[in-house]
Amino acid sequence: MKIPRIAVLTSGGDAPGMNAAIRAVVRTGVAKGYEVYGVRHGYRGLIAGDFCPLTPRDVGGIMQRGGTILGSARSEEFRSESGRSQALRRLDDSGIEAVVVIGGNGSQTGAHALGKAGFPVVGVASTIDNDLYGSDITLGVDTALNIALEAIDRLKVTASSHQRAFVVEVMGRDCGYLALMTGIAGGAEAITLPEVETDPEEIGAEIRSAYERGKPHALIVAAEGARWNAQALAEYFRGRKEWLGFELRATVLGHVQRGGAPTFADRMLGTRLGAEAVECLARKEYGVLVGVQRGELVTTPLEEVVGRKKPLDLGLLRLAGVLAR
Ligand code: F6P
Repeated sequence: MKIPRIAVLTSGGDAPGMNAAIRAVVRTGVAKGYEVYGVRHGYRGLIAGDFCPLTPRDVGGIMQRGGTILGSARSEEFRSESGRSQALRRLDDSGIEAVVVIGGNGSQTGAHALGKAGFPVVGVASTIDNDLYGSDITLGVDTALNIALEAIDRLKVTASSHQRAFVVEVMGRDCGYLALMTGIAGGAEAITLPEVETDPEEIGAEIRSAYERGKPHALIVAAEGARWNAQALAEYFRGRKEWLGFELRATVLGHVQRGGAPTFADRMLGTRLGAEAVECLARKEYGVLVGVQRGELVTTPLEEVVGRKKPLDLGLLRLAGVLAR
């Protein structure tokens, strides 16, 4: 009897916990009697036919590692009809009958396109940005938040020694989730988000007020996609130390947030999502994203996921303002 063959790929920005998801796909897949293949470098590898067989032993010792053992990429070619047809030919030639796509918005848009072409796909919700519709939390978010918080805690130490204010910029593309959460848990005086218009004078007034109330330092968390990101704020307040009270310094965390070893929460989430993706394939539930809502594993049709953005709870921004007193 022919053994059904499935594949797994990681695409877009890597996210801590992807390896746990790959491991779960491979081991659950093998337990269900599938042959499992890995696709190297996301959709680029799908187009190139860069496939490798993965056994349970091949995915041993990877759960605690950040990044993705399969490699990831952002593939322009896969956005074109010809790129996708080539990928479908490669899958057909290799006898692969279904693919698990671990990734965020762009990656799930690609998965949806494969699904619309009649190929069985299941998505796994993975991005540090936490902007993917269909999952309350996505893979990598917890680790990225903890890395940002550790950086903030350190910056506060040196900021206090020098009576400085820091603006710390976190990732998130055009979503402010990471900034909002790190701002609250990091005790920021002000937070800037892409979703909310901000008057820099009001931010300056918060910093000045913190100084006048005798705080030893002040903190602004800025989202990279906000109009007032770290660079914009640093330029705006250049030469205004006398008014601000504190000297303002800027730190951009950038990819540091993506490169860490996954936390318990991300290892667990990757494991649950990866295993459930294979369960979906086994029950022929295709064209869906596997995510979590209210702690439960759920599937959402990719059609509903793509082109949408999960709304941010802006009530938390008001809370952050209150807590900064
Ligand atoms: O989507 C994840 C993310 O880290 C965003 O927060 C960021 O804007 C983007 O990827 C950076 O992309 P790249 O790694 O391709 O520079």
